[in-house]
Amino acid sequence: MNRSLPLVPACLFAAWLLSGCAARQTASSAASPAASSIVTSGTPSLKAAFKKDFLIGTALNLDQVSDKDPATAKLIPEQFNAITPENLMKAMHLHPEWNRYNFEPADKLVAYAQQHDMRVNGHTLIWHSQLPGFIRRIKSADSVRQFFTDHITTVAGRYKGKVASWDVVNEALNEDGSLRKSVFLQHLGEGYITEAFRLAQQAAPDAELYYNDYNIEQPKKRAGALTLIKNLKAAGVRVDGVGIQGHWHIDNLPLAAIEESILAYSALGVKVMFTELDLTVLPNPWQNNTADVGRTAEAKAGMNPYTSGLPDSVQVRLGKAYEDLFRLFLKHKDKISRVTFWGVNDGQSWLNNFPIRGRTNYPLLFDRENKPKPAFYAVIGIRNGNNTEKLND
Ligand code: XIL
Repeated sequence: MNRSLPLVPACLFAAWLLSGCAARQTASSAASPAASSIVTSGTPSLKAAFKKDFLIGTALNLDQVSDKDPATAKLIPEQFNAITPENLMKAMHLHPEWNRYNFEPADKLVAYAQQHDMRVNGHTLIWHSQLPGFIRRIKSADSVRQFFTDHITTVAGRYKGKVASWDVVNEALNEDGSLRKSVFLQHLGEGYITEAFRLAQQAAPDAELYYNDYNIEQPKKRAGALTLIKNLKAAGVRVDGVGIQGHWHIDNLPLAAIEESILAYSALGVKVMFTELDLTVLPNPWQNNTADVGRTAEAKAGMNPYTSGLPDSVQVRLGKAYEDLFRLFLKHKDKISRVTFWGVNDGQSWLNNFPIRGRTNYPLLFDRENKPKPAFYAVIGIRNGNNTEKLND
């Protein structure tokens, strides 16, 4: 059975991040889009189609907000009305040294959003990953607390009134629902999550505040996330929403668990969002015997089967998976406020380099030339009621 991607051993994910991929702003293992490949006019717009339902977001990097590629520059504001910075607001980029912040790239993203009337979700204030190097050299709890307080206050404060919402804490849970042993838990204790929300609320009183994580649709981890949200509320701290990342496999979409989660989270009175949606079509190296992976050239080729294009049969499965997902999202549109794709087109997706570098993946709705894929039309079709179930406006 395939498993959703982030179920890789945490140490391998961490090692991959530390190895330098983390700093890469865009990743492409296949041809980058030709400047001439402008999306044909007449292509339906996702943001228009789902206007009455929820926001449609994408994750952007510096190249995209600098309008480097004309095809992508045209596509983004046509299709999306919300942005999450894929990397630009992570601590390693925003706060590279103890006493130095680098706001320029993130400021550009915020200005781009204002120019195109798009809502920014800040990602992310407190996360154990993609931290600046100096954190690893800190030995005292006092210094960690100082970093923590200064970082949240400075970053949330700078974008006050400009960033509509924050992923205040990202990925604080283990798969069994317990708290991850991050640098923050180790030095600050369990109260760090409440403290992070409290500081964010003080610094940016008008911003919505979210908890974001992967696999929190799965029962055990979901139970941990529900407890986390209840604890915040019990402490009198505001939490406005929960972000389910949504890095899934086309053949293993946990639809029942997703639906149960939408209901369980919204029953606590918080908004539900799908914040990093992408559906991998490639084999998961961790599903079988991990030790075999990459041992032979043959094994490597098996892990990267679609280098010269996606077969129609897989294209159809991808479309069906997206269709099932969006049918569910629309069923619960009153509880879902945003669906954000983790990237614009397949060529830019992080899944070309995770969990194995240099593969050719096809997880999004637009291909490497920014052309809408069959999955795009499946999603649009669901909204227009062209599929199995009719939907009310
Ligand atoms: C990923 C980015 O997409 C990559 O470019 C980067 O190298 C590593 O991080 N969960 C998250 C996101 O919350 O921030 C991660 O983004 C993907 C997993």
